[in-house]
Amino acid sequence: MPSIVKDMSLAGVGRKQVEWALSFMPVFQVLYDEYGGSGKLSGVRVAACLHVTKETGVFIRLLHEMGAEVSLAASNPLSTQDSVAAYLANEGVNVYAWRGESDVEYFEMLNNALDINPHIVIDDGGDLHALIHSKRSDVVPGIIGGTEETTTGVIRLKAMEKKGVLRYPVIAVNDTPTKRLFDNKYGTGQSALDGLMRATSILIAGKRVVVAGYGYVGKGVAIRARGLGAKVIVTEVDPVKAIEAHLDGFEVMKMDDAVELGDIFITCTGMKNVIGKRHLERLRDGAILANAGHFNVEIDVDSLKRMAISVRRVRDYVDEYRFPDGRRVYLVGEGRLVNLVAGEGHPPDIMMNSFANQFFSLLYLLDNEGRLENKVYNVPSEVDERVARYTLRGWNIEIDELTPEQREYKESWLL
Ligand code: ADE
Repeated sequence: MPSIVKDMSLAGVGRKQVEWALSFMPVFQVLYDEYGGSGKLSGVRVAACLHVTKETGVFIRLLHEMGAEVSLAASNPLSTQDSVAAYLANEGVNVYAWRGESDVEYFEMLNNALDINPHIVIDDGGDLHALIHSKRSDVVPGIIGGTEETTTGVIRLKAMEKKGVLRYPVIAVNDTPTKRLFDNKYGTGQSALDGLMRATSILIAGKRVVVAGYGYVGKGVAIRARGLGAKVIVTEVDPVKAIEAHLDGFEVMKMDDAVELGDIFITCTGMKNVIGKRHLERLRDGAILANAGHFNVEIDVDSLKRMAISVRRVRDYVDEYRFPDGRRVYLVGEGRLVNLVAGEGHPPDIMMNSFANQFFSLLYLLDNEGRLENKVYNVPSEVDERVARYTLRGWNIEIDELTPEQREYKESWLL
């Protein structure tokens, strides 16, 4: 099926965006040199559900240049950069994505991407894998394996594996150190605040910023908010992470208490209704709510809509909800991923690591066709180390090596 994008005349802008991203992704410059025209993927069909950004453009164009037939749908109805979608479509990728898809259109586009009958399924959030396992099992026989980019998606896939319903091997790209440590923490840390600042244009210094969740994403957001001068409060349900946040110098308290203090709230948990009805009832006038987790479930937007006597869009990506008692609450990006809705997502330098892991995981799946079980696998450790070494080289950072004597010392156990 031909591509469906917003406006093909944006392709030239998209090309510049992708070229700009590539210039900050030295590992991909090497991969383009090594693999670009190799034909190594000719005959391979890849269906991808990713945020359609300039960084994704760098990754997907490489697969295309290696001879793969690629279809691409968005992994969020509001995250697509239309210029990049147009550029990739112009290059010959089958793109089904535009910014502002309805929920129905979003799933229609995932379906379109599957019509390619993929050998490899690349997903971000697990919707494409879930669709295959529910309504599109017709494509299962052709699938060699899949990959998954996010924490949320890996949790869903592990639940499928546990229930014995997973029908092909999947590599949990999210869980490997060179993805999770950099993308989830430093990527979201910068891009969530960038999205929030682009959307609101307000000062962060001096504000009380409540960060819900202290996993890798929450940590990144908390340290960057502090770096901008915010007084950061962390809420958690995990006692160990709560102690970590406390020892990292953040104030830790229940959301029930934080709601009365916070100027800005950023949810980073993956859990639903983290800011629920009972919290909304007690927010301060002018509170700003944003979500950095994958799905738009963390802020109870339905309750917000029911409780409000009026709603109006006050800026691009900012809606004002007014309550009967006169309080106003500002919701950024409709409660969807603030970094991709109101910003451009993680910087290219970060996505370089994430997508290099995707790339090598894809090659690993093809090289091991028929040898893997229907399980969720970690990225092979040699891939993680390879990505780290490529990155260090790309950033001109040299590190030490153990001497033979030190290596022997490390392996000895005698006193
Ligand atoms: N997820 C977060 N940031 C992203 C980006 N820039 N491109 C693709 N996926 C992302």
